[in-house]
Amino acid sequence: MAKARLDGKVIVVGVTGGVAAFKAAHLVTGLRKLGAEVHVVMTAGATQFVAALTFRALSQHPVVVDMWDPHSPYDEAHVALGERASLYVIAPATAHTLAKLALGLADDAVSATALATRAPVVVAPAMADSMYEHPTTQDHLQSLRRRGVHITGPVVGWLASGKEAVGRMAEPEAIIDEICAILEAR
Ligand SMILES: Cc1cc2nc3c(=O)[nH]c(=O)nc-3n(C[C@H](O)[C@H](O)[C@H](O)COP(=O)(O)O)c2cc1C
Repeated sequence: MAKARLDGKVIVVGVTGGVAAFKAAHLVTGLRKLGAEVHVVMTAGATQFVAALTFRALSQHPVVVDMWDPHSPYDEAHVALGERASLYVIAPATAHTLAKLALGLADDAVSATALATRAPVVVAPAMADSMYEHPTTQDHLQSLRRRGVHITGPVVGWLASGKEAVGRMAEPEAIIDEICAILEAR
């Protein structure tokens, strides 16, 4: 059988609290179909949109939400997963999480993993156009870009508000293409 594009790769997927969180389910499935081992970390906000159980079932691995969980299979999940990752992708990335990443805050599993990993990091922002265009968000994206973080999207399209505007998360297929391109170029 031909080798799948992501065979042998470990992809950690960070999911944050935006409406597009459901699309991360397609991302996880798409990555696994290409042969990747996928682990999911979520913010508490993300669990308001999609249950951790969905990602556990789709990834076939425990999902990390609470860094303080005494029953966690990891001693320090963010360090363990950060070190194992071939690539860390945060999709969707909220304005709030982008700000934390830009500042190096690490008070949840998603942001702490971003600091703990030395793998390439891809973020897929998704938010209302007003939040995306805010100078604060733009500054944070600039900082992340300067540090070599790959920013994919957002694209112009239908937003939850009903507007056609910028802020829609890049489609999972486009994010997967970018992940493959980054890993194949290494
Ligand atoms: C219904 C609803 C939808 C939201 N959608 C988004 C979104 O698409 N993008 C975003 O940046 N914030 C969105 N927010 C706000 C975030 O959930 C909020 O800033 C939260 O603190 C994000 O936390 P997290 O980054 O830790 O997940 C939404 C809030 C609500 C109540």
